[in-house]
Amino acid sequence: MAKRIKKAVFPVAGLGTRFLPATKAVPKEMLTVVDRPVIQMAVDEAREAGIEHFVFVTGRNKSVIEDHFDKQFELEETLKARGKSAELNALKQDLPQAGQTSFTRQQEPLGLGHAVWCAREIVGREPFALLLPDMLMQGRPGCLKQMMDIYDDCGGNVMAVEEVPRDQVHRYGVVGTDGSGKRAFSITGMVEKPAAEDAPSNLIISGRYILQPEIFDKLEKQDPGSGGEIQLTDAMIQLLADQPFRGLVFDGTTYDCGDKIGFLSANIAYGLAHPDLGGPFRAALKDIIEKAGGLE
Ligand code: G1P
Repeated sequence: MAKRIKKAVFPVAGLGTRFLPATKAVPKEMLTVVDRPVIQMAVDEAREAGIEHFVFVTGRNKSVIEDHFDKQFELEETLKARGKSAELNALKQDLPQAGQTSFTRQQEPLGLGHAVWCAREIVGREPFALLLPDMLMQGRPGCLKQMMDIYDDCGGNVMAVEEVPRDQVHRYGVVGTDGSGKRAFSITGMVEKPAAEDAPSNLIISGRYILQPEIFDKLEKQDPGSGGEIQLTDAMIQLLADQPFRGLVFDGTTYDCGDKIGFLSANIAYGLAHPDLGGPFRAALKDIIEKAGGLE
């Protein structure tokens, strides 16, 4: 039986320069989609998949993330005194239990592979999940839960993948497939940010991974790759020589919130899907679009 995954790593050290000035004093992971910070949504997804320990790889100016996952004593007392029990319960529900979070810093911006390697001591020698919070995955069940079901059957390494138009592949890691055309398939190769003509497929690595601890051994020796950074994809290519990787085409919709259009789209999609706000928001949106001259 595959070893149970209890820990998830969240790399949150990035500067968020694409969202300046919003991210001058606020970490990009704290930007909200409707009323939830993007990082909270990734943690929600991990909890749904059974994760019990949340490892954040942070950087300078990211301490607000640590505060967000802490008890806010004064706020809770105030809500209690004002009888706002729904708000209070919601806050409590979002909070991991004491001792379930760990924070470590990536001291230099050396790339995603380096950020993941920074978590090695906290993760230890066990398989773990990795969630890139910029990629917001809207689906039921959540993306990591869908991947866990595959992992429980097959073990090894699992990655969520997603089809994108060919002209977008250069922005992502891309996988080679076994040609089975199945929703879950064996990955035969990977390449980080290829030119469209060099990409082995149009299936991108969409930011959710289940990895075996041997990835840390590969990362330890990994030379810089694309963009001069230590790339996780390059270390995974090394590991693919020793261990199986499965790709899972995520059943749901992905919003790349590292990009302004993706972020705005996520707000609209989650706003429309919101149980209380969905109806009135739809009406407001219709009105805005009409006033702006329609959609054509
Ligand atoms: C990283 C990974 C890439 C993946 C992408 C998903 O790239 O290196 O393989 O497709 O995340 O968002 P980054 O966005 O850090 O450039």
